[in-house]
Amino acid sequence: MYLTLKMIHVSFAILSIAGFVLRGAWMFSHSSNLRRRVVRVGPHIIDTAFLISGIWLVFLLHLTVREQAWLIAKIVALIVYIVFGAIALRWGKTVQIRGTAFIVALLTYLYIVGVALQKSPASWIAFFGS
Ligand code: HEM
Repeated sequence: MYLTLKMIHVSFAILSIAGFVLRGAWMFSHSSNLRRRVVRVGPHIIDTAFLISGIWLVFLLHLTVREQAWLIAKIVALIVYIVFGAIALRWGKTVQIRGTAFIVALLTYLYIVGVALQKSPASWIAFFGS
């Protein structure tokens, strides 16, 4: 059960970032694909299922958010990823703002993957310590 759920969680994580990069590419190339219904609704379904899988794992492993610094780091960074993702794809007024937000969102995502693998808020830096 745990391994299946973790596999589902990681698959959604890959789908989420792949969808984000694709929509980013379509936005910068002014593609009409962005207006398709499936492109507008799909990411919400993927991200909701993704979040549920993460919360489910937290319950399955009996983790407490207060005790797990890496979990707090992950959740906070997820919010940062969502906000900068929204600036990049929706709210940003200029191409510069959207482009910068896009890169910040990607870097935040990279940080979260490091946190997930290392189970440490130090993320990728923790690799050097272990
Ligand atoms: C962009 C956001 C996220 C990414 C990229 C991500 C990525 C990952 C990855 C790659 C793993 C597998 C780590 C391993 O091999 O052990 C994992 C595990 C896990 N994730 Fe996430 N995750 C994200 C968001 C979340 C959120 C929001 C939660 C909780 C609300 C969460 C909870 C967990 C838990 C509990 C595990 C299992 C840890 C363990 O095996 O001990 N994740 N995540």
